[in-house]
Amino acid sequence: MNLTLHIWRQKNVHAKGKMVRYEARDINPDMSFLEMLDVVNWTLNEKGEEPVAFDHDCREGICGSCGMMINGIAHGPQRATAACQLHMRHFKDGETIFIEPWRSKAFPVIRDLVVDRTAFDRIIQAGGYISVRSGAAPEANTILVPKEQAELAMDAAACIGCGACVAACPNGSASLFTSAKIAHLNLLPQGQTERKQRVLSMVQAMDHEGFGNCTMHRECEAVCPKGISLKNIATMNREFWKAMISS
Ligand code: SF4
Ligand code: FES
Repeated sequence: MNLTLHIWRQKNVHAKGKMVRYEARDINPDMSFLEMLDVVNWTLNEKGEEPVAFDHDCREGICGSCGMMINGIAHGPQRATAACQLHMRHFKDGETIFIEPWRSKAFPVIRDLVVDRTAFDRIIQAGGYISVRSGAAPEANTILVPKEQAELAMDAAACIGCGACVAACPNGSASLFTSAKIAHLNLLPQGQTERKQRVLSMVQAMDHEGFGNCTMHRECEAVCPKGISLKNIATMNREFWKAMISS
């Protein structure tokens, strides 16, 4: 396949970025989107030009680092698929593809397609954990977890922290991410002790980082590579108001 790419190039957080046109030649349709970018970078290297910076680690949809806007859609056109698992066969030979970093005030562009997502880390630090002095690991069946609760918690825990939900939201809201982390822990018996404080602190941290409010556009759910449900946001809002009223 031959493709025309328009890629966002930006030297650093302070520099003014711009779209730059590249030609990607002889791309194998079975390559992933990131492998296609690798080929572009090899060509740039050979010409002595600066390769395109993009974030990646696992390349198997679990680390959450590879997000980018592909033709205006977070992670590209394939539903429930991270950019690293998107294959070039989903594009047409001769197609023009626009590639940009996440666009959100809370995720400043560090270089080209790489953004700073440490705002997510700070939300997790505010309450996305369970603090217990457990001693030796307890016997697995000491605390029974109903199957339905366990499955809902596992679904919420599937969030990989990629930030696509923020990038797709017209409000730049981190509600899907934050609510998934809250729901995951609040659904489990081990998460009950800190339940109230968790939701209050994490929502406060989300606001403090400059993320917008959720007004139910549902764009987050549509682009989430892990199929995180909007129901988690309803759960977070309910938990938040219950905690506010009782505090
Ligand atoms: S909720 Fe989905 S889109 Fe948002 S950070 Fe988690 S995995 Fe990514
Ligand atoms: S590189 Fe890890 S999710 Fe894409």
